[in-house]
Amino acid sequence: MRDKVLKIWPEINWIEDKKLREKVLSCWVYVIENSVLSPEDLEVIPFSLLIKDCKISFMNHKRTCVHLAVEIAKIMRNNFGNEININMDYLTAGAILIDVGKLIEYDKVDGNLTTSHTGKLLRHPFSGVAIADRFGLPPEVLHIIAYHAKEGDLSKRSTEAIIVHHADFVIFDPFKA
Ligand SMILES: [Fe+2]
Repeated sequence: MRDKVLKIWPEINWIEDKKLREKVLSCWVYVIENSVLSPEDLEVIPFSLLIKDCKISFMNHKRTCVHLAVEIAKIMRNNFGNEININMDYLTAGAILIDVGKLIEYDKVDGNLTTSHTGKLLRHPFSGVAIADRFGLPPEVLHIIAYHAKEGDLSKRSTEAIIVHHADFVIFDPFKA
C-alpha cells in the first residue's frame, strides 16, 4: 500500500524531514486501508459529491491544492525575505493531509458513493485531526488540517494555514453552484 500511496501522492517526497514524511505517508496508508475507496478510486471519483457533473478527480484537486500552496509560499518567501516566516515542511504536510479525513466520509451503497454515517456526524477537518494525531503529526500540522475549511474562520490561522486555506478555496469556489 505504501508504494500505491506514493504513486498517487508523489508530493509526499517533497517533505524534507524524513520522520514527518513517514508520518504523512502512514496517515494516507491507514485511511485508505480503512476506507471503501482504493488509491485507484481516488484518481477517478469527483473531488466533491456536492458539485453536479464534476469531472475533476479527487487526486487532481488535492494535488493542485498542494502545488498552489507551495508556489504561493515560495513567491512570498522570495519577495518578502525575512519579513515572512513560512515552514515549508509543515505547509506541505498540512496541504497533503487537509482532506485525509474525507476518506471516511464516503460510503458505498449498491455501488454508488454516498456520505457515511461518520461523515454525517463529523466533518473531515475533525476526523482528519484524529487520524493525524494517531500518527504523531505535530500541532502545527494538526492546526492546518483543523482550520483549513470554514470551521477555521472562527480562529486565528497560522501563516501556513492561511496559505493552504486559500489554495484550497481558490480551486473550490469557481465550481460552486
Ligand atoms: Fe477540505
